[in-house]
Amino acid sequence: MAAVMRVVAVAGARPNYMKIKPVMDALERRGAEVVLVHTGQHYDESMNDVFFRDLGIRPPDRFLGVGSGSHAQQTGRVMTAFEPLLDEVAPDAVVVVGDINSTLACALVTAKAGPLLAHVEAGLRSRDWSMPEEVNRVATDRVSDYLLAPSPDAADNLRAEGYRDDQVHVVGNVMIDTLLANLDRARESDVLRRYELERGGYGLVTLHRPANVDDPEVLATLLKALGEIAGRCPLLLPVHPRAAGRLAELGVPGGIRLVPPAGYLDFIALQDSARLVLTDSGGVQEETTALGVPCVTLRDNTERPITVLQGTNTLAGRDPQRIVETANRVLDDPPAPRRPELWDGRASERIAEVLLTGGRAGGRLRPTDLG
Ligand code: UD1
Ligand code: UDP
Repeated sequence: MAAVMRVVAVAGARPNYMKIKPVMDALERRGAEVVLVHTGQHYDESMNDVFFRDLGIRPPDRFLGVGSGSHAQQTGRVMTAFEPLLDEVAPDAVVVVGDINSTLACALVTAKAGPLLAHVEAGLRSRDWSMPEEVNRVATDRVSDYLLAPSPDAADNLRAEGYRDDQVHVVGNVMIDTLLANLDRARESDVLRRYELERGGYGLVTLHRPANVDDPEVLATLLKALGEIAGRCPLLLPVHPRAAGRLAELGVPGGIRLVPPAGYLDFIALQDSARLVLTDSGGVQEETTALGVPCVTLRDNTERPITVLQGTNTLAGRDPQRIVETANRVLDDPPAPRRPELWDGRASERIAEVLLTGGRAGGRLRPTDLG
């Protein structure tokens, strides 16, 4: 009998949970042993526990409890805790998802410890080096053996950086696997009734990028623009903990309602029924495209250009006048949705196939490959 493959699956913060769950399930369905490691980067009930409940994720097998801190503190704490764990568990492979500090920390440890490293969501590039996530993406890809890309543009980025074809697998978008699997349950949520909202009668906002929420002047400018949009379409803003203090200090214009971070099913229901979504989130750009809901992204760039080229996303930047004009244009003439290829609910099956069959793995890129 062939030996069972042992895989460590890493999750640490809100946008990781809906990505790791379908990958764990697909691997386990095909007989792999999965050890779920939670780094503890996010820990509030509303940023963490609710996702385990909503998505039916089992309690983590290992918990590193790193909590908050500076980039170096957080990354260093994850690395220090993950290294002995990896030694003890001795997996055949480690799967990391997304672009948070926990992703990079576990990737670096794995690359030196020996197991194969798979990066889910490889190849996304904003080309904005002021974004901590861009550093995490590029560095994680660089030490990965399996580069699991959500879309052809991501694979093109990797090839342009010199990765070999045998490392790059266009598998589709795991976030959409989870969205499609849970959409019917989300539509049963009573969140609209609780917030006294009508389908199509409100806009939904999320803000948490450091470039938007850390500087009170920048945040105040964005709030002014949102206040103007709220005059036409009332806005609901589930508040990320990173922005909570500054939003409370600044106060928000009339028509904008602040509420706690929403659980997964409630937030999908809120997106699904929104007339418009305004966001700086990566995942929300993808979910709105899959749902066919208009999205205005409050950033100058996106690592997910397919949501603009094929989906319902429009980049508005951070200039208030441009944000208001873009929102008005989108409200008047909503973009026609088209779901990108391979965002079909089966990305995690393709990932399991790649990992369990060794799918053309030639090992990670060596300096000599780059010439
Ligand atoms: C992190 C990720 C970001 C991701 C976001 C998703 C990095 C560099 N950033 O950003 O890519 O888009 O998560 O939401 O990894 N806090 C709480 N409770 C929590 C978690 C955080 O109060 O459960 C507060 C703490 O004050 C903390 C701050 O939020 O210092 C920032 O948390 P952190 O995980 O460092 O970064 P995020 O901004 O959440
Ligand atoms: N999300 C949620 N509740 C919220 C805001 C976001 O459940 O109040 C979900 C959203 O549907 C998506 C994920 O969190 O699945 C995106 O995470 P986030 O915006 O925190 O991070 P990013 O994608 O920007 O890294």
